[in-house]
Amino acid sequence: MTKDHRTDPLDPSDVTVTIGDPTSRRISPDLWGLFLEDINYSLDGGLNADLVRNGDFETTSADHPGWDPLTGWHVEAEGESAVQVRSDDPLSPSTATYVRLAPQRSAVRLVNSGYGDGMPHRTPTHQVRLAARAPAGTAQIRIALIPLDARAPLAWTSLDVSRAGWTWCEADLPPASADRVRLVLEVTGDMPVDVDCVSLRPRDPATGEVQLFRPDLVAVLKDIRPSFMRFPGGCLAHGYGLDNMYHWKTTIGPRHERRHLPNTWGYHQSMAIGYYEYFLLCEEIGAAPLPVVAAGVSCQNTPGGAMAIPTERMGQYTQDVLDLVEFALGSPDTRWGAVRTALGHEAPFDLRYLGIGNEDEITPEFTSRFTELHDAVAHAHPEVSVIGTAGPLPFGRHFEDGWSLARRRDVKIVDEHMYRSPRWLLQNLERYDDYDREGPAVYLGEWAAKSNTVRSAVAEAAFMIAVERNGDVVQLASYAPLLSRVGATQWVPDLVYFTDDEVRPSANYYVQKMYSRQRGDYICPVTLDGADFDLQDPVVLSAAWLRSSGADVSYTDVKVDGTSLPDTSTSQDGARVPLTLTADATELSFTAVRTAGADGFAVGIGDSDAATSHRFEMGSWRNKSLILVRNDDGTGNEVDGPHPFPGVQTGKDIRVRIRVEHPWIRIWMDDRLIHEVEHDQRQTPHLVAGAATVPLDPSSRLVRLVNTSDRIVRVRLRLAGAESVAGSGELLAGLDPSAGAAFETSPVMPEPYGVEGSVVKLPPWAVWSGIVRAVTPL
Ligand code: AHR
Repeated sequence: MTKDHRTDPLDPSDVTVTIGDPTSRRISPDLWGLFLEDINYSLDGGLNADLVRNGDFETTSADHPGWDPLTGWHVEAEGESAVQVRSDDPLSPSTATYVRLAPQRSAVRLVNSGYGDGMPHRTPTHQVRLAARAPAGTAQIRIALIPLDARAPLAWTSLDVSRAGWTWCEADLPPASADRVRLVLEVTGDMPVDVDCVSLRPRDPATGEVQLFRPDLVAVLKDIRPSFMRFPGGCLAHGYGLDNMYHWKTTIGPRHERRHLPNTWGYHQSMAIGYYEYFLLCEEIGAAPLPVVAAGVSCQNTPGGAMAIPTERMGQYTQDVLDLVEFALGSPDTRWGAVRTALGHEAPFDLRYLGIGNEDEITPEFTSRFTELHDAVAHAHPEVSVIGTAGPLPFGRHFEDGWSLARRRDVKIVDEHMYRSPRWLLQNLERYDDYDREGPAVYLGEWAAKSNTVRSAVAEAAFMIAVERNGDVVQLASYAPLLSRVGATQWVPDLVYFTDDEVRPSANYYVQKMYSRQRGDYICPVTLDGADFDLQDPVVLSAAWLRSSGADVSYTDVKVDGTSLPDTSTSQDGARVPLTLTADATELSFTAVRTAGADGFAVGIGDSDAATSHRFEMGSWRNKSLILVRNDDGTGNEVDGPHPFPGVQTGKDIRVRIRVEHPWIRIWMDDRLIHEVEHDQRQTPHLVAGAATVPLDPSSRLVRLVNTSDRIVRVRLRLAGAESVAGSGELLAGLDPSAGAAFETSPVMPEPYGVEGSVVKLPPWAVWSGIVRAVTPL
């Protein structure tokens, strides 16, 4: 990246920010919210306070290769059939698998260590609850907590189990003198005991209530003061294949009647936090629920691709969606309002939004199902704003088709997803300025700057200023994903990491918190005087490399500007093979043939050590598509594609030609032009500023300032008609843009930071948010 100023932090730049009079455009009061998906063990093993892993014995290899009903449990027994996994005459067909403990020569023990290395022992008292049956006559089961490093418990709790059939047993267990414990179930004697649905939940030390949610995780969410919380996804909402689609009705009611599912992210979902608990959680953190239901089509990015609910079953599915709204909003004398009341919540929940679909490809199957669902909800519940979907990327075919479908059907809001690099966000600050104010509003439903560094957090803060400046058209926004259990993660970056013992908010979290807790009302224009910009490097073909992580590929007839290079090859070890190019090279071509493996290959374009380079992926997304990726500061974005592609095939030659003539990159496959992309050269600002009125305080202004540079920026604030301004706020100052990483606590935290003599002195890589007012001279 070329800078047009030297970047010595000791050479501050001075910028004047003039805040104009308020406009009539109002920032949506619901703008900042949360995205809760069951990814990264966010629910079981996370928000769910139950410490037992796989307490229902429902885990199978469909959840994860190698898993079985005893995953999470350790067996201590003598005799082959001392522990039997059974499903005859179960407690319920939904949790059909249970375990029979049948002592033979000695006691039989089942031991559960939770989700980590032992269960955390945070509160003095824990309640154990399980379903049990004594098939051969009255028996006893003993239960205890054992310190992680001990063999024996301090004290057993004994429960009598009668022959009469399945009964629920519960008891409070005495504390164990350890920070980490295991739960042990033991049967002695010669009477077997059947066991299912085991849970261990801490009791709140203050109220004595059994905890439903893990309190420290709830606290970190509540602290953001989110307006809404989306659920259950993400991809989880539509799942892989029709059997994996999320159906809300199978997630409510007694635990043993809920339908477990393999989680699309490779683990198991017990549904212990189902729709009712989700609504309760929203209430607990003060957020409105924002459910997202499948548009009758499963996720396209899974083996087997998108599958659609047959048309003859769409009537029932549509009714299920209408019933969800009734479950949340219906009075107790409606069918589903009565179900909610029976579960313990007579008052309606604050449901005002409903998403239909998630990142779906806009196919005819999707379009007809979405239309049916949308029209039914819009007709029956005009008080609920339906949110449509616009594909996985913030541009491209599905994005355009999703938007045009929304306009045709008069959908109120469209869900845009935007996982982009910090540089992209800074280059796209004007994105929403020209959005049609008469058309559907925007829900920026999933977005992130793709890392937990200060650079990403600061770029997100800058983009959020641009979103607030358009808060009349961008109605809702939620960073994604939200939670991530360290060591059990499928997706980074996330907003908050956690272990059994710790909650680790990221720098990105603190940015969300700063903006969400202090909100503006009416948008005020700002003008900047003296602000610097970073320019972008031109695109060049000065270097190249080849790689094929899931295939062996040979490359022949390799030519650079007509000069031949030696044949070469790449293999499944994933190593990059560099090609020797000159600094002024413009065209690279070769014939590639896969000799083994199942995937395609990638070509790097430009020096990958430079701030900006490109990568052409021939067969990405499981060898299904063609994508051109631009890398900035180590983070990549798709800039063209994905274009559908039958896939690289073993033994079949492919001729690739790449031509780079700044600002154009063009790529041909077998003489067919695939990518033709103009390099985005928009400069990125060092200072981004925004302002709005403050609710209930007409003489004050909320001001956001973001410094995206290595220099100190002294910002002089001016309010029309005032000689000077005073105020106070919070500063999140990064200094080192590369500080901060996934799984770690943020290296930076917001701190109080005032305005001195109308000036906010911003350190490098900093975010400031504060309230200012005019100072009238005496
Ligand atoms: O947030 C993680 C995933 O990203 C979501 O499940 C999906 O919608 C998106 O692709």
